[in-house]
Amino acid sequence: MVLKESFLWGGAISANQTEGHFDADGRGLTNFDMLPLDSRRLEDVYLDQDNFLDEVHDYYSGRRGNNFYKTYESDIELLSELGVNSFRLSIAWSRIFPTGEEDEPNEQGLAFYDDIFKKLRANKIEPIVTISHFDMPLHLIKKYGGWYDRKIVDLYIKYATVIMKRFSKYVTYWIPFNEMNMTMHIPFIGAGLTFTKGENKLEKKYQATHHQLLANAKTIQIGKEINPNFKFGCMMAAAKTYPYTSKPEDVFSAFESDKFNLIFSDVQVKGKYPNFLARYFDKQQIALKTEKEDFIILKNNTVDFLSFSYYSSACSAAEDSDVEKVKRNGPDTVRNPYLPKSNSVWQVDPLGLRITLNQLYDRYELPLFIVENGLGTYEDQLVDGKIHDDYRIKYLKEHFENMISAVEEDGVELIGYLMWGLIDLVSVSEGKMSKRYGLIYVDADDEGNGSYKRYRKDSFDWYKKVIKTNGTI
Ligand code: BG6
Repeated sequence: MVLKESFLWGGAISANQTEGHFDADGRGLTNFDMLPLDSRRLEDVYLDQDNFLDEVHDYYSGRRGNNFYKTYESDIELLSELGVNSFRLSIAWSRIFPTGEEDEPNEQGLAFYDDIFKKLRANKIEPIVTISHFDMPLHLIKKYGGWYDRKIVDLYIKYATVIMKRFSKYVTYWIPFNEMNMTMHIPFIGAGLTFTKGENKLEKKYQATHHQLLANAKTIQIGKEINPNFKFGCMMAAAKTYPYTSKPEDVFSAFESDKFNLIFSDVQVKGKYPNFLARYFDKQQIALKTEKEDFIILKNNTVDFLSFSYYSSACSAAEDSDVEKVKRNGPDTVRNPYLPKSNSVWQVDPLGLRITLNQLYDRYELPLFIVENGLGTYEDQLVDGKIHDDYRIKYLKEHFENMISAVEEDGVELIGYLMWGLIDLVSVSEGKMSKRYGLIYVDADDEGNGSYKRYRKDSFDWYKKVIKTNGTI
């Protein structure tokens, strides 16, 4: 047996992309609720020019989700039928503290998650909980400018402490922040940041992530006091960057790209900022506002495991005027001519998963956890109530083979594998339901029409067998 008996096989979702019912039971508005259904959703928000925060739209997909707020009981039954032993979900901060500034939490919000955790436990499913997955109360953005303001650290700690105490008997695995490195790319979604023309945007982003890093470390400190068995993980959007050619300049460019992408896991694992950053900050005229004790807190409260999302590798060229660019989970990347065309919206690279696992394990020597991976593709046709997604099965099979080789042959320590968007959900980058990742199809279109009924795709039965045999493919 290659994978341990305790290997966690499961799936992952986030509150903002699934729950819907954005104003039910006292929930407050969030940044994700405001995103329009066009490409501006990934762009920086400037307060001194037209921006979508002031617009009123007919439809916001983030406010609708996939209806999980109402379907969670039957969804958990489907998970149980699938045989997963773990499930990652996030808690919506604004269900617990609608504006972020209340003194007392919203009991209705807490009761909702209580019930989810009870049902998961009753079905022998380990909850993996993200405390902040690309959402925060909109009020904190409007009043303080999001994570740029140090005040948010305390407000987040208040929220994190409430949920860690309340759910201590159900939850062991906590992920304080989803993909902190994405704040450099999508600062409004990642940290509620807005800008005015001419300001040093880079400084603002690093200041916000410093506050998130601090909040992360303080959460670990408080969490271990609440329950010493808690396990905390950082979560990174990971993707090994390949050089476009073997030209030393391209190799250096790829190396630099990885170095910058891994800053936030460096801090969360090693308890300190990498040395090169001081010079870089000088060069970029970045002067972080910090306090002496910040660095002690960071040093003393590092993570227990490193979790990450992997969708595809990246590729970098020193001179990129002549190379084709493609989309991925992160800033656009150079098209890798060696990767075949596929159904995926992003380039597919199964071996890249093995390489990334090795890269992270060599660098950090901590247990790893794949908490997002999967094929996002446009799928709208139900045939006899089915989706025949052999392409998804192929994608998963090839990724599993590489994951197992990383464990078996390379000795990587791996806690588990959680497939992203197990139940179709609203895409972050496109805001669409029709960009689908699920093994479970949700009957809903991009404008919110449909029954929201769930259907098993072919990949559902296939994954079920994989789980049952602990990875025999
Ligand atoms: C990850 C996020 O970055 O990528 C998820 O953590 C997101 O929330 C996933 O859904 C896939 O991206 P997209 O844009 O296809 O939804």
